[in-house]
Amino acid sequence: MLVPMKELLAWAEQKNCAVGAFSVGNMEMVLGAVAAAEETGTPIILQIAEKRLAASPLHLMAPMMVSAAKRASVPIAVHLDHGLTLGCIREAIDYGFTSVMLDCSLLPLEENIEKTREVVSVASQCGVTVEAELGVVGGNEGDTAEHKILCTDPAAAKRFCEETGVDALAVAIGNAHGNYPVLPELRFDVLEEIYHTVDTPLVLHGGTGISDDQFRRAISLGVRKINIATASFDALAAAAKTYSDGAGKPDYFKLSPLCADAVRRNVVRHINVFLNRQ
Ligand code: 13P
Repeated sequence: MLVPMKELLAWAEQKNCAVGAFSVGNMEMVLGAVAAAEETGTPIILQIAEKRLAASPLHLMAPMMVSAAKRASVPIAVHLDHGLTLGCIREAIDYGFTSVMLDCSLLPLEENIEKTREVVSVASQCGVTVEAELGVVGGNEGDTAEHKILCTDPAAAKRFCEETGVDALAVAIGNAHGNYPVLPELRFDVLEEIYHTVDTPLVLHGGTGISDDQFRRAISLGVRKINIATASFDALAAAAKTYSDGAGKPDYFKLSPLCADAVRRNVVRHINVFLNRQ
């Protein structure tokens, strides 16, 4: 069933776990992620970033994601990840997304606050949850350009949450999008300070390549939503390569379920860590 993202954040808070937010870019990824949620009996978030819409158009992805969530046997929120423009955010809300992120993290604090307040005002009229980001997460969703990691300042985070009224805050603690060259050193000291300063549920981006122990520690310090994108895209691409490297005539009807299943396995693995299941 389709639910507001806020409900899943409250569920995660109550269970002292994190809800997995899994990026999707096609039907196989949607099928795989939803199958994982149903198999584990666990709520998830299906998400897509604005920059990914060039490859996976919103007018096709949105109805599929919303419909999959509505038909699922577990609660699922549908989220616009890294929304960059108010136009795209409004469009996602019109398609029935139950959550949106505005990413103005590269702008000065004042401007980030001003633009985020505008989105909160639009979204709250429709019962839509809002996530924003403060500090700079490394890498760049949907882009090859790298930018420097800048840790979230706990005092600025407190002011930001109070003045915008956001429902979830993405933090920068040394995390980055994409594959890490080596295991990242996350600044748990910064996360702990944010956790003690801010009441808003925290979000960890750049989940691919973060260790299970790091996930558990982040959850113990208030992280309630964890984003996973690259690991699912890589799992699907690897399954497609293994299939096409194999002997025999290529057959879409064999390839498609293999791709969905690769995503399902990746999502199940992460769900179990985020639930603190062994
Ligand atoms: P990864 O691609 O590193 O898993 O990051 C996902 C993410 O944070 C999407 O916003």
